[in-house]
Amino acid sequence: MIKPIVVSGIRPTGYLHLGNYYGAVRNFLRMQEDYNCYFFIADIHSLTTHPTPENLQAGVKQVLAEYLACGIDPEKSTIFIQSDVPEVCELYTFLNMNAYLGELERTTSFKEKARKQPENVNAGLLTYPVLMAADIIIHKAEFVPVGKDQEQNLEMARKFAGRFNRMYKQEVFPIPRPFTFDGGDMIKVPGLDGSGKMGKSEGNGVFLYEDPKEIRKKVMRAVTDAGPTEPNSKKTEPVENLFTLLKIVSTPDVVDHFEKAYNSCEIRYGDLKKQLAEDIIAVTAPIRERILEILKDDAYLAQVARIGAEKARESAVRTLQEVKEVIGFKRLF
Ligand code: TYM
Repeated sequence: MIKPIVVSGIRPTGYLHLGNYYGAVRNFLRMQEDYNCYFFIADIHSLTTHPTPENLQAGVKQVLAEYLACGIDPEKSTIFIQSDVPEVCELYTFLNMNAYLGELERTTSFKEKARKQPENVNAGLLTYPVLMAADIIIHKAEFVPVGKDQEQNLEMARKFAGRFNRMYKQEVFPIPRPFTFDGGDMIKVPGLDGSGKMGKSEGNGVFLYEDPKEIRKKVMRAVTDAGPTEPNSKKTEPVENLFTLLKIVSTPDVVDHFEKAYNSCEIRYGDLKKQLAEDIIAVTAPIRERILEILKDDAYLAQVARIGAEKARESAVRTLQEVKEVIGFKRLF
């Protein structure tokens, strides 16, 4: 039986947090059984923020170890480093010829990054969705498991794939679709600071690699409000976010208990936070143990990356060859 192809990646710009885990990695774990999965470390994408060579290398190693520690199995999935598959840059160049300035400038992530780092609005940031499209379609992916924040980038990938097919009047690329854990909406894991999504550099994240003591401290410091004053009142954003996190990591009866306490104005946020911290630790502590173990084993990490690169290149070379023929690059001599 031919398994549908899946592609997804994570930038090596820091430790993985609960947003990465529940938005992406948990889907990877579920998909690797029944799909032909390519999971990679997006080191070329991470260059948009100019890491030092040391930080880049450390970041790649960390994400690789974290993928493995979470349970991504190199026997079942292809795990690789983006820059080990240079064909993706060639496809990126071709796709850039049909990516328009207006549509790239309008993407939310570009506008946001340009606002956050006005001193470094580079062309790589602008064409970020094009490289991401190349990552996806070079393996002819049908599914892309990502969190809500990547929705627009995925939409661009769909657009570029369809545009290429139409331009050359051939169905070279499938149109990739998002994949979510329960078939519902793509998810957004909130941070602990009261607003917005959990991020690597937002200072609002809980990391898989983090010490349980540190996690307890962080969660206890999470932003809340003065508490409900009327039964069944609407929750403020910081409190809603804590409940969202609780729904993600805790059992339904725990969520139910705190919902009832909130609705009857008897809630003590300290109790909710204590429970939330322990339930987060129950998820992260075993992963942390494995990360520590795997990080010690450079030979194993190198072997996984080498085998992954070989498998990913095989697929990428095949597609690129087809693409070049379709475009009209014929050998004359
Ligand atoms: P990155 O490194 O920012 O994030 C990696 C994955 O984690 C998800 N994620 C979240 N999901 C829910 N809630 C959050 N708070 C949260 N924070 C992060 C992201 O949605 C993503 O799935 N552009 C990508 C990397 C990439 C890629 C690709 C992904 C490059 N090429 C091709 C898929 C396919 C990125 O920067 O992810």
